[in-house]
Amino acid sequence: MKVNLGVKSYEIKIARGLLADCGGLIKHVTSAHKVAVVSDDIVFPLYGEKVLLSLRQAGFQVQEIVIPHGETSKSMEMLNYLYGKLADFGLSRADLLVTLGGGVVGDLGGLAAATFLRGLDFVQIPTTLLAQVDSSVGGKVAIDLPQGKNLVGAFYQPKLVVIDPEVLATLEPRVLHDGLAEVIKYGCIKDEGIFSYLEQVADDSALLAGIEFIIEKSCGIKGEIVAQDEFDKGQRMLLNFGHTLGHGVEQAGAYTRFTHGEGVGLGMLAVTRATEQLGLTAAGTGTRIEKLLHKFNLPCQCEYTLPELLQGIMLDKKRHGDKITIVVLEGMGRGKLLEVSLSDLPKYFVL
Ligand SMILES: NC(=O)c1ccc[n+]([C@@H]2O[C@H](COP(=O)([O-])OP(=O)(O)OC[C@H]3O[C@@H](n4cnc5c(N)ncnc54)[C@H](O)[C@@H]3O)[C@@H](O)[C@H]2O)c1
Ligand SMILES: [Zn+2]
Repeated sequence: MKVNLGVKSYEIKIARGLLADCGGLIKHVTSAHKVAVVSDDIVFPLYGEKVLLSLRQAGFQVQEIVIPHGETSKSMEMLNYLYGKLADFGLSRADLLVTLGGGVVGDLGGLAAATFLRGLDFVQIPTTLLAQVDSSVGGKVAIDLPQGKNLVGAFYQPKLVVIDPEVLATLEPRVLHDGLAEVIKYGCIKDEGIFSYLEQVADDSALLAGIEFIIEKSCGIKGEIVAQDEFDKGQRMLLNFGHTLGHGVEQAGAYTRFTHGEGVGLGMLAVTRATEQLGLTAAGTGTRIEKLLHKFNLPCQCEYTLPELLQGIMLDKKRHGDKITIVVLEGMGRGKLLEVSLSDLPKYFVL
């Protein structure tokens, strides 16, 4: 499928077993001689050799750069480490960087690509469900600061995204469900069909059996929204459904108690419960969300109070003055933006 961004347009290739063919696919989008493959210390031992082999067979000179797994790697220190490795490998501006991993590797490696030598071409090979349906599409790349997540970054589109759904078989169930929360979000804001599909999926193995459909639908929805609003000034904000409170949940739990998807799930549910009571959302929508979250082991309640969760809102990138834009559902599959004053914000969440 294609993400339409004028001269920056690129393709997302989705198929089982694609990892073994990535070299040939990448050859079509670059004239590079050297390819640096950035990955983490869990993903590389699982899939690194397959990717390196395919790249070598396609004629590239390759070098892997393996970083420790986990969010703490999205740091200035690790970015600096990558710059050093890229320089040592002697990459020129015509060469290429490949990210092989989840959102952490994609965001960090993407920012390195955006900035090293004022910009190298890069290709994403996402290996978590979250990265396959969300972070690898849309061109946001970033690192964290001690003051907050994703505070330093860029909009920088890849040349290609290569998605092999088979790699999802080795994910921890909690990481799989984390990514699924974003799929549920797409269903809520744009596509009742994908929401109903998930309602009918029996369990994780049935989910994985039909995961191409889910990935394709999700990338389609995100790609379309991004194509209309690359720089996040309007409709792209729809993608923040559940995220305002979700960020609060992640923060309250010091980013260890709840995953991002778990926070987003709680956020989607809390806002929908509230807007249903306010008469803004079709009755029964919240219950559908709650049942689906529950089926995939995503929490439907947390131990924090609303004031605790809304504390961090002042740092929210979506805040403007004393107003903030939140996303609400008119009904399933129909998200819309709503500007509310910060003082009214607590009315829009029922825990
Ligand atoms: N750029 C964007 O638009 C965007 C959107 C959403 C999230 N993000 C970012 O994405 C990050 C989270 O990404 P994530 O959830 O993919 O986390 P992650 O990259 O930390 O991966 C989660 C864990 O799964 C492991 N893993 C990855 N692929 C695996 C596989 N196939 N088999 C077994 N283990 C595997 C990783 O080593 C890691 O331990 C956050 O930093 C978030 O800010 C970015
Ligand atoms: Zn998210």
